[in-house]
Amino acid sequence: MTTSAPSFRALKDEALQALHSANDDAAIEAWRIEWLGRQDGRITAILRSVREQPQEVRATFGAGANELKAALETALEGKREALRRAALQSLATAEALDVTLPGRKRPLGRLHPVTQTMRDCLAAFAEMGFRTVEGPEVEWAYYNFDAARIPEDHPARDMWDTIWVDTFIDGQRKMLLRTHTTPNQVRVMERSEPPIRVVVPGKCYRQEATDATHEWMLTQIEGLAVDEGVRMSDLKGTLYGFARRLFGNDRRIIFHHSYFPFVEPGVEMAIDCFICRGAGAECRTCHGTGWIEILGAGMVHPEIIENAGYDSSRYTGFAFGMGVERVALLRWGIEDIRHFYQNDLRFLSQF
Ligand code: DAH
Repeated sequence: MTTSAPSFRALKDEALQALHSANDDAAIEAWRIEWLGRQDGRITAILRSVREQPQEVRATFGAGANELKAALETALEGKREALRRAALQSLATAEALDVTLPGRKRPLGRLHPVTQTMRDCLAAFAEMGFRTVEGPEVEWAYYNFDAARIPEDHPARDMWDTIWVDTFIDGQRKMLLRTHTTPNQVRVMERSEPPIRVVVPGKCYRQEATDATHEWMLTQIEGLAVDEGVRMSDLKGTLYGFARRLFGNDRRIIFHHSYFPFVEPGVEMAIDCFICRGAGAECRTCHGTGWIEILGAGMVHPEIIENAGYDSSRYTGFAFGMGVERVALLRWGIEDIRHFYQNDLRFLSQF
């Protein structure tokens, strides 16, 4: 068989054409075997036939055949490379991960406004040396009432419509959800020695018709200081420091006489209205009085000091109790206490 140089070109076109339309590994392999296969490849057959060519064309024929073989090998390599690239490309597209996307923000929680206020109050007292301790929410009637000088027939027991625990001891209900944090005065005194300076935060419960300023659950902070020589002026100084710390440095305070069975004398403390500054007869916060009541306080009754096992001629003390919700209402100008426990994020996320 003799093959001239131009027919090498035709063969090359035919081979490249075929290679062009081979589009997967199997087709390419079939193409390789057809053209470059060691046994029966078409180019291999041509190379084998070089020796049979007439002397005068043998060299040109051989060179042409080798050139053709090299060209096809290069084309094969190129085709394989192109396929690898295409495969990588489609993998990259399929598994694309856009690292330039901004991360998704997780919603951050925050402390409930009453918890924030409670912590701020406790921090103000901590600066004045008051340690925070806690007491039980389910309380004995003894600590909640009797030890605080509120006897069985005392009107204060009616005033606080108590939520009793339905367990009878000696035919009587003796446990309740505490109506105030005051029982911790005796609890703390019983287990420690003077000097005492503590604040006791906690939830309290009363059977109350709820309205804008009353909830059946409320949070209180009880304060107690007992030592030799504790006086009314210490109480005033402490509460004054607290009021300024929470409501601003130019706050003024006033004490009115009041009655609580566990203190003598008893007072209610008010701060000057920082909403109208005493000028608004129509002010909803102070009702035109210029003063806002914020807590009850007084000198611990000597009987309570004695009941705790201390000598009341040696030790005196002061106590105070405040509603944390009320402090929160005032500091943020919130009009209804019931917002606090409705769990409405539109309200809660404002603080
Ligand atoms: N326990 C009182 C209440 O719930 C508040 C109170 C008043 C506490 C005077 C005190 C105090 O310690 O001295 O209304």
